[in-house]
Amino acid sequence: MPHTITVIRGDGIGPEIMDATLHVLDAMGLGLVYEEADAGMVALDKHGELLPEATMESIRRNKVALKSPLTTPVGGGFSSINVELRKRFDLYANVRPARSYPNTKSRFPSGVDLITVRENTEGAYIGEGQVVTEDGATATLIQKVTRKGSERIVRYAFDLARKTGRKKVTVVHKANILKSTSGLFLKVAREVAAQYPEIECNELIVDNTCMQLVMRPEQFDIIVTTNLFGDIISDLCAGLIGGLGLTPGANIGEDVAIFEAVHGSAPDIAGKGVANPCALLLGAAQMLDHLEMPEQATKLREAIVATLEAKDSLTPDLGGEGTTMAFARAIAGRAAA
Ligand code: NAI
Ligand code: MG
Repeated sequence: MPHTITVIRGDGIGPEIMDATLHVLDAMGLGLVYEEADAGMVALDKHGELLPEATMESIRRNKVALKSPLTTPVGGGFSSINVELRKRFDLYANVRPARSYPNTKSRFPSGVDLITVRENTEGAYIGEGQVVTEDGATATLIQKVTRKGSERIVRYAFDLARKTGRKKVTVVHKANILKSTSGLFLKVAREVAAQYPEIECNELIVDNTCMQLVMRPEQFDIIVTTNLFGDIISDLCAGLIGGLGLTPGANIGEDVAIFEAVHGSAPDIAGKGVANPCALLLGAAQMLDHLEMPEQATKLREAIVATLEAKDSLTPDLGGEGTTMAFARAIAGRAAA
């Protein structure tokens, strides 16, 4: 049975990078069936809603979605569509690989190959009753860490290590200061780690982690952490490897998984045919892993690396003069071979 996936073309550069990505997947002859669904500004224009029920239904049915960036309109009281999707499908694991690629503007053209696993449903948020005065402001920062939430994210990280043959999981925390919340996360992480004796587990305080990442990123393999720390660290990691154009992300729940690029809809370059499709393509590679097609996922990643190496039709953000589709065709030629 071929896999049916929900495809959300999105806003801004979304349709351009999705066309490019599907071109490559089609060239590989994977037999995927696409079910298109609208979200974002396109959906607001067509259906009067940013996230129509038909789109939710499609994702629920297919359980796997490939999604381009969406624009959340500023003002008008709209809540972020991405946050809404995470909540509605309980997508608790945000999984972001970051690895060195050749011919990017990265400070680390080699040596980085890590995955950040961020807890995506708990963590710190602002409670009711913010007070702003002339002299300052106070707000209650609520932190929610549960045993169940911690256990499932740490388990996800260790299972991922096992499945991908990775050797080490670093638990990032701040238990020295946030004794109850981060302390619970660390305690649960130790319990889970004990069930994976073949995988090395080390613990690192979040501030030290940031310094270590910048100085010696090659020491990291899988990082698992709570929501806010993961938010910051995963962007730091994107910076290590040359920025947004090369960083995919997966949002994974018990039932549903959504794969995307981490960058936004890039309105400044939309419609010009120059967007770099690599982040979404790498998201598609994560999707192929999830669909139990690991050889094809590897083939796709290798085709991207080989195309970067050959400097074949690179887009302007990578210093080339290629268009989105020319770059995609260059990758497709290698991925189909
Ligand atoms: P952005 O990521 O869209 O753009 C930041 C800068 O990076 C821009 O200069 C852009 O041209 C460049 N860039 C981004 N992706 C690129 C690509 N594939 N190739 C070449 N250059 C690329 O961030 P920004 O401008 O803050 O947000 C624009 C819109 O995107 C907003 O409406 C925001 O809400 C939305 N957004 C959506 C996300 C999602 O759906 N996952 C994530 C982040 C932002
Ligand atoms: Mg962020």
